[in-house]
Order: sequence, then C-alpha cells, then structure tokens
Amino acid sequence: MKKIEVCLSPELLHLFEVKGKSVVIVDILRATSSIVTALAYEVGCIIPVATIDECKKLKESGCIAAAERNGQMVEGFDLGNSPFSYMESHLKGKKIALTTTNGTLALSKSKDAERIVIGAFLNISSIAKFLNSKAEDILIVCAGWKGHANLEDTLFAGALIEILKPNAIIEQDSALLANTSYQQAQKNMFEYLSHSSHFKRLQRLGVEKDILYCLEIDKYQVVPILKGDMLIPAVVEREAVNIPR
Ligand code: MLT
Repeated sequence: MKKIEVCLSPELLHLFEVKGKSVVIVDILRATSSIVTALAYEVGCIIPVATIDECKKLKESGCIAAAERNGQMVEGFDLGNSPFSYMESHLKGKKIALTTTNGTLALSKSKDAERIVIGAFLNISSIAKFLNSKAEDILIVCAGWKGHANLEDTLFAGALIEILKPNAIIEQDSALLANTSYQQAQKNMFEYLSHSSHFKRLQRLGVEKDILYCLEIDKYQVVPILKGDMLIPAVVEREAVNIPR
C-alpha cells in the first residue's frame, strides 16, 4: 500500500525524501486554484517560476506574465493571482509565466520528485483518481504562507487523505493532524477558514469572491502535471485497481 505524508510548509521539505514520490503541491488561496482554473480554461501551459526576475525574463521573451506578492498583483505584469483572471478567452492556448508568494516556490523546491501534480479543492477527486493510478508513495506539499503552515492547505491535505485512505498507509503525525482537522472542518469549511490569516488578508484586499470560489469542490477534472518546466493537463489513466504489493 502507498504511504501518504504531509509537509506542512516548504521550510520543512528538507526533512522529506521527494525522489521516487508523487508530490501534490497545494496552495488553495490561491496559486494552485488559479493554475487548475487556467488549465481548465485551456490556456496553453503555465510556466511556474520562483522569482520575479525569472518571470520578467519570460515576459521579455514573449510570455504572458502573472506575478503576485502578498496577495496583490505585482506592478508591470499582465496578471495577478485571482483565478477569475485565468478565465479570459484571450488566454486560450497561451503560455503563461507565473510567480506567486508561496505556491510556485513550494513547487520549485519539489523538482526532484518522480512527478509533481497540482491540487486544489477544485480538482480534488481527479487528483485522487490520478494518484490511485500510480504506485509511488505520496507527499502533499502545503505552500503555507512565507514558511508558516496555513489552515487552508492543511485542510486540503486532510481532505485528499480522506479520499485516499482506504488505499493508503497514514502513519505520519502531520498527515494525521491534517486529516483530523479536515474531519472537524468539513461541515462548514468557509466558517472554519474565516479565522485563518490568509482568508483575512484576502478579505482586507476585497477578494472574498476568490475565497468562495477556491473552496468549491470538483468544479474541474483537469490534473495539472509538471512536464519539463511547464504545467500541462495530465492524461488521467483509467483508475487502477490497487493490488497491495
Ligand atoms: C501564494 O502563492 O502565496 C498565494 O497564492 C498568494 C495569493 O495569491 O494570495
């Protein structure tokens, strides 16, 4: 049976082995919710980069460039990090470079993984189905906020574990913490999350509609996967029957 672990912050990634594992990057508010939305709306690909400079260079090479820091769009770029920005029809088929405060950094730190997929509540069942079709152990990497753990990414990890646990081994304390937190919060996620720091930060920025949207379950089936330096839709194989090894 596969093992599932949770890394609550990219600052803890050095404690984990990512090689040989399926890594799920999650940044519910809002990087991975935006990436899932963008690929669901058929942008050509997302090129995630950790720094503003890398994003600027890609813009200069002709990419549409999206940059967010501290929840706000960075001046001089084409897009910020609201998922609603990625629904525009003129983005269809386009290459979009993206850098965000936490989400793309968490991804850049996980590059030695067997595979990297992008998880959000928006595509959680497809992510689970994709992971069940692979044999490798699973590491859910929460983007958190500037090195700190956050509630929304931890709840996603717990929700994904809830779906996967019939076919997996959950022994690690962070995974158990995430799953029990989700079990408590699942009846009213919005209320539970209303006390979280980034929820309040985004409310102060007047983007509460982004929060509501990012908490929607299974709006899309797309599974963004990293191929080279690009995030594109994965081919989700038929759900494999899990035969314990
Ligand atoms: C992040 O990557 O830190 C978040 O997505 C920030 C945001 O967009 O609010």
